[in-house]
Amino acid sequence: MDALHLPVLLEETMDLLAVSASGLWVDGTVGLGGHAREILRRSAPDGRLLGVDRDAQALAVARERLAGEEARVRLVQADYRAIPALLGGEAPRGVLLDLGVSSLQLDRAERGFSFKQDGPLDMRMDQGQGPTAADLVNRLPERELADLIFRFGEERASRRVARGIVWARERAPFRTTGELAACVRRSLAGPRGRHGIDPATRTFQALRIAVNGELEGLGACLRALAAALLPGGRLVVIAFHSLEDREVKQTFRDLAGPDYRLLTRKPVRTGEEEERGNPRARSARLRGLEKVAA
Ligand SMILES: C[S@@+](CC[C@H](N)C(=O)[O-])C[C@H]1O[C@@H](n2cnc3c(N)ncnc32)[C@H](O)[C@@H]1O
Repeated sequence: MDALHLPVLLEETMDLLAVSASGLWVDGTVGLGGHAREILRRSAPDGRLLGVDRDAQALAVARERLAGEEARVRLVQADYRAIPALLGGEAPRGVLLDLGVSSLQLDRAERGFSFKQDGPLDMRMDQGQGPTAADLVNRLPERELADLIFRFGEERASRRVARGIVWARERAPFRTTGELAACVRRSLAGPRGRHGIDPATRTFQALRIAVNGELEGLGACLRALAAALLPGGRLVVIAFHSLEDREVKQTFRDLAGPDYRLLTRKPVRTGEEEERGNPRARSARLRGLEKVAA
């Protein structure tokens, strides 16, 4: 499992969080528990971890991976936007958000995130809550679909994609990732195809962001998490797409001043070595903020 689920920017993230013994640490996207395990190692013997994820399957893997540390760990299925309410008034020394999808979500065809494998068109991180990606592509009016694909996928040919989707769904509703990927590729057929990326990439990203409300309230959430920190505590975020990173960058810049110190003027990126071993790390951008001690 370890080779497949390499935590991104592990050393850099731990250094930025400045993890040390004692206190409460929060991993708001505990995923498969890679970063969490390292936080526990570095905060031993008495540091505690609150691990949050909205994906029940990911939490089950994390629970297994963190076995033996139960006394110091509390795992909760929730949205990271609910963390302030989960703290019970205790101020954490550090909070980590490693945004985006986990390799488990991408690799399991039945979760419906990947255009590389055929599976049900789902894409929900929390499978207890709707709507699915199929609901959106089968129901949204063409104009709304085009706007969504343009905004969240930064797809310049969004109108063409939306037209292709509506044409196809009038014949048969979309059920699988394979059907949607084939439709997008057909709609964008031509000399395009920048940098050899699959033409379905942007549309899939857009739907995933929409299905999971990934950008909704991110800025407000970061502000609430920063406010909840212990003085001297740190908020560290890894973003994987530019829309998300822009929000993190802007919020941190707005907060910087007498109460908060910006720890990263420019985002920390992966080195060539990590990229070779873990191609998904290529787009990761790490940023940090510190609450100034009174
Ligand atoms: C990139 S993975 C985290 C990997 C983890 N750091 C590790 O080392 O294994 C991102 C995780 O964030 C979760 N996630 C995304 N948005 C979330 C949200 N709003 N609330 C809670 N969890 C979320 C996903 O379900 C996924 O498991």
